[in-house]
Amino acid sequence: MGKKVTVVGAGFYGSTTAQRLAEYDVFDTVVITDIVEGKPAGLALDLNQSRAIEGFETKVVGATTGPNGEGYEAIEGSDVVVITAGLPRKPGMSRMDLLETNAKIVRQVSENVAKYAPNAVVIVVSNPLDEMTALAQIATQFPHNRVLGQAGMLDTARFTNFVAEALSVPVKSVKTLTLGSHGDTMVPVPSQSTVNGAPLRDAMPAEQIEELVVKTRNGGAEVVALLKTGSAYYAPSAAAARMAKAVAEDSGEVMPVCAWVDGEYGISGVYLGVEAAIGAEGVKRVVETDLDADELASLKEAAEAVRAKQADVASM
Ligand code: NAI
Ligand code: 2OP
Repeated sequence: MGKKVTVVGAGFYGSTTAQRLAEYDVFDTVVITDIVEGKPAGLALDLNQSRAIEGFETKVVGATTGPNGEGYEAIEGSDVVVITAGLPRKPGMSRMDLLETNAKIVRQVSENVAKYAPNAVVIVVSNPLDEMTALAQIATQFPHNRVLGQAGMLDTARFTNFVAEALSVPVKSVKTLTLGSHGDTMVPVPSQSTVNGAPLRDAMPAEQIEELVVKTRNGGAEVVALLKTGSAYYAPSAAAARMAKAVAEDSGEVMPVCAWVDGEYGISGVYLGVEAAIGAEGVKRVVETDLDADELASLKEAAEAVRAKQADVASM
């Protein structure tokens, strides 16, 4: 049977994700939902009218939903659900400032997803990401492998872009990696980063790498400060859509994602940014990579920082 993906939340992140997913032309159906009356239906109409120009057959369906599950029949049978519902940051706000408001939204959405799409893989993007991913697992009661979060692909793509720009080389010649949290304890990993296959550390001085690491950690805030009314969505939606495609195609592609760790790196029982093979069951396995002693220490620090916050969301 053809694949079905749902995007919950028809704001900037959700609508651009739905567009990318539809344009891949690998799904039968892309469903987009929101609590705003008419908006998802309007976006679906518009996207379907682009099919003849962009040349895709995927059908887009829009549904307005209510807090008690009204409208959620539209998501039935979804193989993947991407949760983008929630407020974005305003200038000066940290992702953590969104915790309580978005926790209410993500819990309510997750409970309805569990009811109407009980076999789906859930990809969370709402912020604060690591905490909202943990909450979605708690609220759906899905196995941990079927709930994951998007952040690492985005942070890694930012790091890659900054390195490529700094060295004036093609983006495709650069490989970087970012682990840890989608927040202050983000862990860019220079030791695993390369330019044309050679270590990044041979391509630029340590101080310049550190500058780009800081710029990567601040990547989201820099966009927020310029946009003033919301946060980034082109790079974020590219990342979430690629993850959903990997699930639909059961590709096994290894990506940096927010996944449940169970012993990897000596860390257990927490959602954390790590590399993982992604397929039909969500996370097939977490892939450990070699880290410097400093990087490993930072990853452990990130795990403890998000562990404390993730414990808080259980009661939200
Ligand atoms: P937005 O404000 O444009 O859209 C959010 C949408 O969620 C709105 O249309 C709103 O009506 C909808 N919504 C609220 N409650 C809902 C509910 N119960 N059910 C369905 N829809 C509901 O915000 P944007 O830019 O789309 O961002 C969405 C979220 O993604 C934010 O929390 C933002 O911080 C996060 N984000 C995460 C990133 C990541 O890397 N993980 C990157 C960029 C944004
Ligand atoms: C970003 O990193 C705000 O999490 C969002 O762009």
